[in-house]
Amino acid sequence: MRQHVNPLSKNFNEIERIPSLIEMFGDPKLNLHLDIGCAGGEFLFDLALVNTNWNYLGIEIREKLVKTAKFKVQEKEIKNLYFAFGNAINILNNIQSKFIIKNVKSISFNFPDPWFKKRHYKRRVIQPEFINLLSNSLQKGSLIFIKTDVKDLFDYMDCTISSNFNFKKIDKKDFNYSETFNPNKAKTNRENYVIVNQLEIFDRVYMKI
Ligand SMILES: C[S@@+](CC[C@H](N)C(=O)[O-])C[C@H]1O[C@@H](n2cnc3c(N)ncnc32)[C@H](O)[C@@H]1O
Repeated sequence: MRQHVNPLSKNFNEIERIPSLIEMFGDPKLNLHLDIGCAGGEFLFDLALVNTNWNYLGIEIREKLVKTAKFKVQEKEIKNLYFAFGNAINILNNIQSKFIIKNVKSISFNFPDPWFKKRHYKRRVIQPEFINLLSNSLQKGSLIFIKTDVKDLFDYMDCTISSNFNFKKIDKKDFNYSETFNPNKAKTNRENYVIVNQLEIFDRVYMKI
């Protein structure tokens, strides 16, 4: 399976219709968390099975991974987890999926693809226009979580989000994880790899104000 797909390829211009909340989840009124670039979704399966008072939506650009994850959701009859295939930016930019951003309580970007070359920065999922879109549509108090082991990418994401005055950084000292989408601090696949290899992790939380 290809590890990297170019999100700007015209293959991703067409997007899958995201069903309504009631079609996606057993209880559409639960808090909604969005994980962008969820790969095979193992992290979200871990979360959804334990935190049944949250709904989880994963968006991933590698179609095969999404197909397999969707199949697993059906097989296990999980009612608080849904996966969507496509470029997250195009999906959330689409007028028909605006309702998702309005309803999300939090969004995570876990170990996004770094696209190291400067000419490829535009392929990074966090872009100023995307952050503007989130800032215009998220409810006040919604949270954005970023995490990476690439310092340069962290600085880039931090600068992009902080440049938007509708987001403020949250001091980790004042932060109560038990009230978030991830109360038990479950780890993603990449995070486990990073920990085993003793690499540094850079993370930050922002609140829409
Ligand atoms: C390095 S992996 C990290 C996977 C997972 N979050 C983790 O921490 O283990 C980044 C993932 O983001 C996906 N991705 C990259 N750009 C994307 C985009 N614009 N929209 C949706 N998914 C994207 C990639 O296909 C890949 O699965």
